[in-house]
Amino acid sequence: MTISREDSARIYSILDKSGVFSGGSQNDFHDAGENQLAILTHFGLMASSLVLDIGCGCLRGGRWLIPYLNSDCYFGVEPNVEMLEIGKKVVIDSKILRDKKPKFNTNSDFEFDVFGTTFDYFIARSIWTHSSKKQIEKMLDQFVRHSSPSARFLTSYMRPRIPFLDGYKGESWIGKSHESDQPGIARHSLRWIKRACLNRGLKVSSIDEPNLNYGAQIWLLIERTQEDTDL
Ligand SMILES: C[S@@+](CC[C@H](N)C(=O)[O-])C[C@H]1O[C@@H](n2cnc3c(N)ncnc32)[C@H](O)[C@@H]1O
Repeated sequence: MTISREDSARIYSILDKSGVFSGGSQNDFHDAGENQLAILTHFGLMASSLVLDIGCGCLRGGRWLIPYLNSDCYFGVEPNVEMLEIGKKVVIDSKILRDKKPKFNTNSDFEFDVFGTTFDYFIARSIWTHSSKKQIEKMLDQFVRHSSPSARFLTSYMRPRIPFLDGYKGESWIGKSHESDQPGIARHSLRWIKRACLNRGLKVSSIDEPNLNYGAQIWLLIERTQEDTDL
């Protein structure tokens, strides 16, 4: 499947005129979307995989994932209802929407049982870069509860500027959301993330290959440890 840069530019311009923040520039709209499909396929995504896109926004990533996946395989959570609705109208072709039947939910509590299924992949692009530690821990708990034994969680993050600190200490989301139009970034140390994963029987690998990352954010791969998979 090919998605042209011209088409990305056309859609970006509609979003921009409608006042919808797609997560960055026109190039980011194309490249950060494509990168989400690339990182998932690199780690084994198949058309039949069940994917949960946390904070799917206006479907910058969904635009690449939904056509790739079989029908009924894409699930998106996005509390900004207006953004999601514009995305469904403008970003995804109406025939693809009809054929692939993606499912959406608008809860803001990181509750992933709302779809009544378990997932093979979780993806969170530019989500941990705005989340509090409490919210990250909730996402990890939900991953443990609502994913298949060999499931993979791909999430992007940014390291604290001062290496020996654990980063953002606030209790709530920081940055644009359904509740705020103020920009902001949350940084978290890999040391803290590793501890949070270990406490839940999960291991985390930092994807340090530049060609798999896009922009300033680094992908992390989170999986169950072998012992937990064998249970
Ligand atoms: C920077 S955007 C990233 C969107 C998308 N993942 C992408 O890469 O294009 C962050 C998204 O998270 C959403 N968000 C904010 N609070 C959330 C929450 N509590 N649960 C889920 N998503 C949330 C925002 O509305 C926004 O769409």
